[in-house]
Amino acid sequence: MQHAAITGWGMSVPDRVLSNADLERMVDTNDEWIVSRTGIRERRIVGPEDSATSLGSAAARQALERAGITAEELDLIVVATCTPDQFLVSQACLIQAEIGGNAGAFDLGAACSGFVYALAAASQFVETGACRRVLVVGVDTLTRFVDYTDRTTCILFGDGAGAVVIEASTEERGLLSTVLGADGAGYRHLYIPGWGAFVPESAGIFPEFRPYLQMNGNEVFRFAVRVMGDAAAEAVSKAGLTFADIDMLIPHQANQRIIEAAARRLALPMDKVWVNLDRLGNTSAASIPIALCEAEAAGALQEGANIVFVAFGGGLAWAAGAVRWGVAGVERLADAARPGTHVNGVADAADVSLASLATR
Ligand code: ACO
Repeated sequence: MQHAAITGWGMSVPDRVLSNADLERMVDTNDEWIVSRTGIRERRIVGPEDSATSLGSAAARQALERAGITAEELDLIVVATCTPDQFLVSQACLIQAEIGGNAGAFDLGAACSGFVYALAAASQFVETGACRRVLVVGVDTLTRFVDYTDRTTCILFGDGAGAVVIEASTEERGLLSTVLGADGAGYRHLYIPGWGAFVPESAGIFPEFRPYLQMNGNEVFRFAVRVMGDAAAEAVSKAGLTFADIDMLIPHQANQRIIEAAARRLALPMDKVWVNLDRLGNTSAASIPIALCEAEAAGALQEGANIVFVAFGGGLAWAAGAVRWGVAGVERLADAARPGTHVNGVADAADVSLASLATR
């Protein structure tokens, strides 16, 4: 069987910053409450010019440049999102219209767990030999669906996109194990009503009908603490690894307390856990690929490192996977420049994006 190594990665976040101080002027909240309950200090939110298409395409271009391939060389594009720019056509086709090529293209919906679901699906295409090169994008603009008069939800979310290219490898690289789960009966704890074909009569007509994100925070919190630890531990064991083999945990960035609970479950110190929610908030399907880009740019991922991805969110769904980092066994790259250097003379795209975060 072939493996599906991650050979390219990229990220994009909007320029606009929404800080806790900004939120203090909008709703009855304060920085101390938000930081102590969530760990979030600020988040990036879309402006009028931004969209899932613009963010997703920017992240995709970086990932392709890093992998040293063009969009024409892709066999498939899978986009994880719960906030596409429109429902017909798919977000994947909208991104393809920007980056080019004629690869197959489809969307996958699993809310904040979407990127890990999409990576699992895409890896199957590569592992079976059906595809050689697949682009996986996680993008969400949830702030467009947040009620900025509701202090229980508007403090949590930011926008962004992350992308990876996966390619066939003869060495054991990429996803080593997959854990996917959902509790559909719990969907009422986190959902956005409307924006689909079904709009109940009782919802009325705009402007009475407000299609904003609805959340039962306490229920979601309890669910998250349980499934994040369980799913991460299962992903490690399914990969034939022990907790001691794990070099880095990259969790979905929803709440510092949820992340710390998952780290405790894997007996990992927090310096082996990538956290960026203080700067970016919860970017939904984008949070894991963005964190991956940041960890790589910071030099935290070495060839052969064992990483665990774990996510939870609307569904209620969860997903986890152990991932071996590096490009060993990817034929095309054997004699060429490797990711981490400047592939085909293209500058280090994730570094550029991080630099813009730092200099803001
Ligand atoms: N500022 C100040 N006070 C607030 C705020 C706020 N922003 N929000 C709520 N409060 C108040 C509440 O009204 C309550 O007051 P009361 O005691 O007088 O009734 C008090 O603070 C405590 O509220 P709780 O909801 O119990 O606070 P909790 O510690 O549970 O934190 C939070 C709330 C942060 C939402 C937490 O439950 C959480 O993170 N849940 C998970 C949510 C999540 O991750 N959702 C995204 C999932 S990913 C996806 O798929 C999109």
